Parts: sequence; C-alpha cells; structure tokens
Amino acid sequence: MRNITPNVLVAYASKHGSTEKIARWIGKEIRGNVEVLDVDNIDNLNYDYIILGTPIYEHEPLDSMKGFVNKNSDKLKSKNKAVFVVSSDNEVRSKREKNIEAFANIIPGEINQTAVFAGEIDKNELNSNEKASVDSYMNSISKPVGSYSKLNEKRCREFGKALNRFI
Ligand SMILES: Cc1cc2nc3c(=O)[nH]c(=O)nc-3n(C[C@H](O)[C@H](O)[C@H](O)COP(=O)(O)O)c2cc1C
Repeated sequence: MRNITPNVLVAYASKHGSTEKIARWIGKEIRGNVEVLDVDNIDNLNYDYIILGTPIYEHEPLDSMKGFVNKNSDKLKSKNKAVFVVSSDNEVRSKREKNIEAFANIIPGEINQTAVFAGEIDKNELNSNEKASVDSYMNSISKPVGSYSKLNEKRCREFGKALNRFI
C-alpha cells in the first residue's frame, strides 16, 4: 500500500472557523492526495483514509457533523479513519475524554487515532444565544468571561504527521 498514492479526506464541521483551521493544518502534514472539505461540501467517500473533525457545542458534536455521520454511516463503517474534536474544556482530563467520547461514540466501525484540541472563542462573533450560553458556562466554572485563542498549530500538525503511519 505504501507505494501507491493514497487519497485522503479531512472532513470538518466548523461554526466559527477554528476547526477548519485545525483541519487544514492536519491536512498539510499528510502524505498523498489530500482534500480538506466542509462536511456540507462532500459528495462521495471514495478515499483510502478519512479524518473527521468537529467542535463541541453544548457537549455535543456540531449538528452538521452528526448529520453527515448519520447519512454516511454504512460507508464510514468500513473506512480507515481518525477523529478529533475541538473544545474549550481542555484542562481537565475527564472533560477531554467526555468530549472525544461524545464524537467517537457516534462513529461506526474502527477508529485508528483520536485527538482533542483546544479551540478559540471570539465573543464579538457570537450571537446573543451563543453569548448567553458561553457566559453561563464560564460562570458555572468560575472562569473569566472573555475571548480567547488556545489554538496550537504545532500540536495539530504533529497529529497529522503521526497519522501517516496508518495511511
Ligand atoms: C455557544 C458555545 C457553546 C460551547 N459549548 C462547549 C461545550 O459544551 N464544551 C466545550 O468543551 N466547548 C464548548 N464551546 C467551545 C467551542 O468548542 C470552541 O470555541 C471551538 O473552538 C469552536 O469551534 P469552531 O470555531 O470550529 O466553531 C462552546 C462554544 C460556544 C460559542
């Protein structure tokens, strides 16, 4: 398998753009013909390897990712794949695990590798519902309420690089 060029898909869902950025960093490190696509723009799954990435909102993967997985459940089942989530709850291990489980549990078939990446919030970009949700969550964990970015390009690229051994 190593001597043919693999076709690889990085399929992401993203509401405010951070998961898309991460998907593109991962895609840059992967050998083969790599496409990085929003799940809303994917029309076939003719790939040798698939990486699926979603942010966590209200403890759940984004709806568009859930819909994509549901719709393609049969095809995804037999694919070689890895998954990652992007979230703000990254300091406590049990919360990281909960977030990746919320996604991994809806993925059919085997998963080679998982990762949890810290995301970002720009409060100026949020609508009033989102702002209220973030404020109430941040208050509940006694964290300062504000915009932040914890994106770590190096870590994301390392994850991409490490996946080459499965591809
Ligand atoms: C309204 C809202 C709800 C969120 N809920 C959660 C959550 O339940 N758990 C969590 O870990 N992160 C939560 N986050 C943080 C997001 O996962 C993080 O901002 C991520 O980077 C967003 O990805 P995107 O830019 O690709 O949309 C929430 C963010 C917002 C704005």
